[in-house]
Amino acid sequence: MINLKIITSTTRPGRKGIAIAKWITDLAVSDPGYQAELLDLGAINLPLMDEPNHPRLQQYQHEHTKRWSAKINEADAFIIVLAEYNFSFPAPIKNALDYLYHEWKYKPVSFVSYGGVSGGLRSVQMLKQVVTTLNMVPVLESVTIPMFSNFLDDQDTFNPNELISKSAQVMLQELKTWSDSLKQLREKKKS
Ligand SMILES: Cc1cc2nc3c(=O)[nH]c(=O)nc-3n(C[C@H](O)[C@H](O)[C@H](O)COP(=O)(O)O)c2cc1C
Repeated sequence: MINLKIITSTTRPGRKGIAIAKWITDLAVSDPGYQAELLDLGAINLPLMDEPNHPRLQQYQHEHTKRWSAKINEADAFIIVLAEYNFSFPAPIKNALDYLYHEWKYKPVSFVSYGGVSGGLRSVQMLKQVVTTLNMVPVLESVTIPMFSNFLDDQDTFNPNELISKSAQVMLQELKTWSDSLKQLREKKKS
């Protein structure tokens, strides 16, 4: 069973990303290959990075960091539900990534991105540079949602079209392949 964490990227009141995050979490939960959990940065509420030591040392001073570390440590794979702010990634996801180091290492990450005409693709391209620095492996197969608000109903429930649904299935499948391989790599490195 693959322990999958789905992480939001935005925290503002009324954020729309949570609707997309709930949709992809439900899909992953219904897949018997995954044990999936949504980590909503809006609820987790990490302050701006306030640890005195480099995360490589894992000398965490704060309870919020210890809790965040434990959650990320137990994961085998990630999906980041990524918005685009000013042609880049929103600050809360960079902050959440910066808090830790070893906990991310040799684990795959896929992106579900959303935005206007770009579908958040510029944000994904920029965040790939960050995640590879943490030794994560970005998976090519992703879900791109341009004009995402067209898929939200009055209750802010996300209703995907066929193309989005299909790309989510392909992404979840490919993420498994990478999870299995990288799990073996992590075990080999431990021994
Ligand atoms: C500060 C800010 C900057 C934005 N910049 C972009 C952008 O560069 N590209 C884009 O497609 N949408 C942009 N948008 C619109 C967002 O796609 C839209 O507001 C979306 O709902 C943001 O995700 P959230 O609701 O989860 O915060 C921006 C929104 C905000 C609040």
